Amino acid sequence: MSFKTVQEAPARLNRSELAVPGSSEKMLPKAAASAADVVFLDLEDAVAPDDKPQARKNIVQALNELDFGDKTVSVRVNGLDTPYLYRDVIEVLENAGDRLDLIMIPKVGTAADVYAVDMLVTQVEQAMGRKKRVGFELIIETALGMQNIHEIAAASPRNESLHFGVADYAASTKARTTAIGGPNPYYGVLTDTPEDGGARDYHWGDMWHYAIARMVVAARANGLRPIDGPFGDFSDAEGFRAQANRASVLGCEGKWAIHPSQIPLANEINAPSDTDVEQARAILEAMAQAQKEGKGAVTLNGKLIDFASIRQAEQLVEKADMIAK
Ligand code: GLV
Ligand code: MG
Repeated sequence: MSFKTVQEAPARLNRSELAVPGSSEKMLPKAAASAADVVFLDLEDAVAPDDKPQARKNIVQALNELDFGDKTVSVRVNGLDTPYLYRDVIEVLENAGDRLDLIMIPKVGTAADVYAVDMLVTQVEQAMGRKKRVGFELIIETALGMQNIHEIAAASPRNESLHFGVADYAASTKARTTAIGGPNPYYGVLTDTPEDGGARDYHWGDMWHYAIARMVVAARANGLRPIDGPFGDFSDAEGFRAQANRASVLGCEGKWAIHPSQIPLANEINAPSDTDVEQARAILEAMAQAQKEGKGAVTLNGKLIDFASIRQAEQLVEKADMIAK
């Protein structure tokens, strides 16, 4: 390990993160009763400009009156380039009580964006005598944000997670797609192997690989949770599974649900399977035995395991224990 220690964000389950428009009085109670680990009440892109004042009121009422159980509750405010952000922060934070856990900041472009919102939030917290410090979720969804992601991730002790906002990111980078997440058939590789007599095969690639992998590195290097964003076609459970699995394999801790049907999928995919947990426990036992015998590496089921295997296995068991609580 480096001499620099990484401060981990407060531990929270974040397998699924349900988006719910603050303008929908009908959906707010459903979100509170859902099986999502985190719910974000939206004031940004799911709410029309004229509806923002009423959406703020709905959200304040929901935070004061609904039972969100042991969920983490977040509010997505509007961006720093809009005339809404300051009112979002002030109205929600002044009136929401202590149930609010996080504020989600969209379209973060520079570390100074986070600094500016931190200053505003800090002033309201101090003025209101709030005891519970609000954390930040940051959506990386512009070319500027992706360029500055490492400074952004380190910009405030309030930071808890980075989110990949694939729809706005596609717009910002002028990617050739109109879908929200998922692959594009034109992003592929044509292979022709001389040994096959030049027979050609076409393999789809994952056009979001770089963005998600970069976000995972920036998040983990700063002790934050990397979270994959929306998958728009909620009637395509298989497509959701494939995308969520890719993100999870790369190190993401969870994925957004833009429809309730995506919550159980995200919860399942972002939890270690029973087989994974059994294997991790077996690794820990084998390595404990190896250490007693003064060995640094041993073989388990025909595979080499060593001290790095202990760290991988501990992560997995820790996650499983958190879910079981
Ligand atoms: C989320 O905000 C997105 O733009 O995908
Ligand atoms: Mg967006």
